[in-house]
Amino acid sequence: MLSDKLSAALNKQIQVEAESSQVYLAMASWAEVQGLEGVASFMYEQSDEERQHMLKLVKFVNERGGHAIVSTLKSPKAEFGTFRDMFQELYNHEIMVSKSINELVHITLEEKDYATHNFLQWYVAEQIEEEAVARTILDKINLIGNDKGGLYLFDRDIQQLTVESAASNNPQ
Ligand code: FEO
Repeated sequence: MLSDKLSAALNKQIQVEAESSQVYLAMASWAEVQGLEGVASFMYEQSDEERQHMLKLVKFVNERGGHAIVSTLKSPKAEFGTFRDMFQELYNHEIMVSKSINELVHITLEEKDYATHNFLQWYVAEQIEEEAVARTILDKINLIGNDKGGLYLFDRDIQQLTVESAASNNPQ
């Protein structure tokens, strides 16, 4: 059974994941309008993944005797400046999510709730992965600079990354 404190913290995380999904959906739409198809597919995929992170938490909270709450979400912005700014924002956003997961893990230790602690290890590993992907992409963007040809290739590469990540998330 979840404590009230942990239940509230997990519900806050449900909101964080749902808002992440909305932010990445807004990024996908912006990139699509800019003609960056690869970047758009990548962001649509990220948005779907965040929704899965959210659903996994909803089911866990309910299974453990809590009540997962579906709350109102902040509306994300519609414009992201340059695609570099957008990926920087994605990276910063993931750092914020990692901090939030770490705080949750901290509460599970305080409350000696080892079942929830164990459940959250999946999120800890996922955050390492997501931060690493965002950092790799930012490094690539810094290499390209303002080169238009480089941007074209980057957009194609990132589409490939999306296909590979979708395949590894849905093993046959
Ligand atoms: Fe669910 Fe990207 O954090």
